[in-house]
Amino acid sequence: MIIVANWKAYVEDLTKGKTLFATSKKLARVSDLRIILAPPSPFLGALALRNKSSVAFAAQDVSVTLGGAVTGEITARMSATAGATYALIGHSERRAKGDTNEIVAEKLAHAFAHGLIPILCVGESERDAEGRYLSFIREQITAGLAALAPKERAEVSIAYEPLWAIGKTAEESIGPDDLAEMVLYIRKVLAELLPGKSSRQTHVLYGGAVESGNVRDLAAVSMADGFLVGHASTNVSSFTDIVKALS
Ligand code: PGA
Repeated sequence: MIIVANWKAYVEDLTKGKTLFATSKKLARVSDLRIILAPPSPFLGALALRNKSSVAFAAQDVSVTLGGAVTGEITARMSATAGATYALIGHSERRAKGDTNEIVAEKLAHAFAHGLIPILCVGESERDAEGRYLSFIREQITAGLAALAPKERAEVSIAYEPLWAIGKTAEESIGPDDLAEMVLYIRKVLAELLPGKSSRQTHVLYGGAVESGNVRDLAAVSMADGFLVGHASTNVSSFTDIVKALS
């Protein structure tokens, strides 16, 4: 099981980041979960550079540029140098700021080129009775992986994060059966896109209002390989409760 803590811009203070990191290290020692922290980029180096623990780090995004005269951009190489192992790419909050499927594909290629393992985020904004949201998810995955070599495709993790659940409460999140159905669907899409049986290794994660109140049920039924947790990962006690519920 993998748990990714997406701090977004909730954590604006390095002291709080350090506290959450210290908690994560303690949790990692007593659980068999793989804990990955995605701090805001100014904190990445401060937390990840001399990290000797089993807690890993992710960039929250990578730039579509490769460096040069681009003030304010944070490239894949910068995050890799600062200690990230993974990169979230295509998060709906980045897509809302203009990341198209083509930009997402380019970012995935940049992440690979600099040794970052991408976590490709996909998700529909609403569910229609006709099931069009399924082809929307298929399109996001297909377009995201399009530019990658077959071997690289197998290394990308997929985080399914429906927009209608993000930032909500456990009660408003997806139900275990609906999640199970979507995980199966994503696995089917991956089996079509990846060579041989390699898609079986792909990690499929879920994100969107994962809290201590729903994580155990979601994990029990859905066959997801882990969770991407936003707001509930930015508080020591709620994050601890989630990790304990899964351990
Ligand atoms: P949330 O965010 O847990 O606050 O819903 C998840 C995400 O957007 O990654």
